[in-house]
Amino acid sequence: MSCIAANLEENKECGKETLLPQKDEPAKHSSVVAAHYNHLEEKGLKERLNSPIYYLRNFNNWVKSVLIQEYTDKIREKDYGRSLRVLDICCGKGGDLSKWQKARVEHVVFADIADVSVQQCEKRYEDLRSRCGRLFSAEFIAADCSKEPLRDKYRDPSIKFDIASCQFGLHYSFESLPQAKRMLTNISECLKPGGYFFGTIPDAYEIVSRAKKAPNGDFGNRIYNIKLLFDVEKGYPLFGGKYDFHLEGVVDCPEFLVNFKLFTKLAAEYGLELVYKARFADFFKDHSEKYRQLLQKIVCFESYPAPPGKELVAEEAEYEHAKQFWQSKENKTERDRIGTMSTSEWEVATVYMAFAFKKLKNTWDEKGKPVYTKSKQEGQSNKN
Ligand SMILES: C[S@@+](CC[C@H](N)C(=O)[O-])C[C@H]1O[C@@H](n2cnc3c(N)ncnc32)[C@H](O)[C@@H]1O
Repeated sequence: MSCIAANLEENKECGKETLLPQKDEPAKHSSVVAAHYNHLEEKGLKERLNSPIYYLRNFNNWVKSVLIQEYTDKIREKDYGRSLRVLDICCGKGGDLSKWQKARVEHVVFADIADVSVQQCEKRYEDLRSRCGRLFSAEFIAADCSKEPLRDKYRDPSIKFDIASCQFGLHYSFESLPQAKRMLTNISECLKPGGYFFGTIPDAYEIVSRAKKAPNGDFGNRIYNIKLLFDVEKGYPLFGGKYDFHLEGVVDCPEFLVNFKLFTKLAAEYGLELVYKARFADFFKDHSEKYRQLLQKIVCFESYPAPPGKELVAEEAEYEHAKQFWQSKENKTERDRIGTMSTSEWEVATVYMAFAFKKLKNTWDEKGKPVYTKSKQEGQSNKN
């Protein structure tokens, strides 16, 4: 049974798939999220290198790079030389700027609720442009994308995007149905038929499974902690399933569970058809062969045993898996190393999942509403 089916099955068995009333003011959460991200300090290179989540961050960047590469390639396979326009929604400080540059896109609209982050994104864009001379054109929008229409804010409201990317941000809009809908409207309304919407989110099924095994729905390790903030006895809300997420030096604010099956159904109303989904562990299996060089280039894994003069990021006990594997290797030399991640970092990585949707072609009904035509299935579709 697929993980999502299992999740819903579980909820249904207890008759617990419910839409609970929202007690808190939605506006309050948005400002908490915006304030949190606005106050996040930009880390220097030295600090980043010494971070306890150095490899996790690099791995997350690898996932995003692969998604960008895969789907820009897919579009170009059909139309080589096409100039690509992108919506980077929930862009933060522009963590994907150089990925868009490498993908040779033509124009990117960056949007985020945190105005200070958007300013930093613009500054990083200008710096990159002055360093490399030629760069895609860009526009920067500070807006709550789960409440405000973005279209009126574009320089050209008739713009058509080839790609919409939402990395580690969509779950904030699952506070309520109207917010999720507004977010999906913003994502889909200017996306061309045949264009792709892809992203990364925490996997609600994984969070709920881990919470069920933990006292008070509170679990984590030395670098992350998640605490469910609703009464599981009363069921799992489809929207507003709030939890506190703390991740060492990066995130420390309330987030919302995304019931993936519901998300897929909702997305279908906006002409978005699921073409790929995978937890990060499976994403790695699906793409590590093809993108092995990139894994090495952006240093996603730690060398085990630690090379001379270097220390492991975590205690030796967090490398038991690597130790066993290394010991079982035959004909190894003193210099041999394997690539791995501390158990704490991998536990965080495997909270997340990646997804991709394709925008369908549509006709119009007599009331002027779009009617979407299901496409023929794509080759690559890990959709279970
Ligand atoms: C974990 S950060 C990810 C940033 C960036 N996408 C990346 O991968 O580096 C999540 C971002 O979502 C933004 N965000 C949260 N809720 C939002 C909303 N309602 N509208 C727009 N942006 C939002 C936050 O301000 C934050 O910058």
